[in-house]
Amino acid sequence: MSAYDVLIPEGEIRLKVESLAEQIGRDFSGKETAVVAVLKGAFIFMADLVRKLDFPLTCEFLRVSSYKNNKSTGSVKVEFDLSESIEGKHVLLVEDIIDTGRTVRFLLDHLKSKKPASIKVCTLLYKEMDPNVKKLIDYIGFEIPKEYVVGYGMDDAGLQRSLPFVGIKRS
Ligand code: IMP
Ligand code: MG
Repeated sequence: MSAYDVLIPEGEIRLKVESLAEQIGRDFSGKETAVVAVLKGAFIFMADLVRKLDFPLTCEFLRVSSYKNNKSTGSVKVEFDLSESIEGKHVLLVEDIIDTGRTVRFLLDHLKSKKPASIKVCTLLYKEMDPNVKKLIDYIGFEIPKEYVVGYGMDDAGLQRSLPFVGIKRS
């Protein structure tokens, strides 16, 4: 028996990814596009999303750290950066989850300094009720309660990223 309760089942995630891809396709099709995933958490979401986008794009990755063992350390730092230029490109920043918004604010500043033509943000999950954070996000999959979630790329102390659903740890 799993130690996690299902919050969002696999099938619902799949349908949501399809509808997000439709919206993104309308906005990005015909533009030189770089999809930037934030590792490690966004790797599965990005892999599913880009396979539903039927226009040319490049896949780029960076890694930041802000959480250690489920707790925020308060500061965000780049562990490794993009390996290709995004100057003049239309960037889709792909996140697994946005909580306080600290990471996405940091990433937007960081990416803007690389002079892309535009940046839009897509997150599978969104926790924060703050409207100032919400207005930074262009595409939101699901709004969820303020609980620690795992699976579909997201970890519990490094494990559970491979769960096919989004779950909540049983207490
Ligand atoms: P923020 O800076 O508070 O918005 O947190 C964003 C980052 O923290 C996300 O990119 C995740 O990597 C991580 N994070 C926040 N909440 C969760 C969660 O419930 N499960 C797994 N990772 C989370
Ligand atoms: Mg993340």
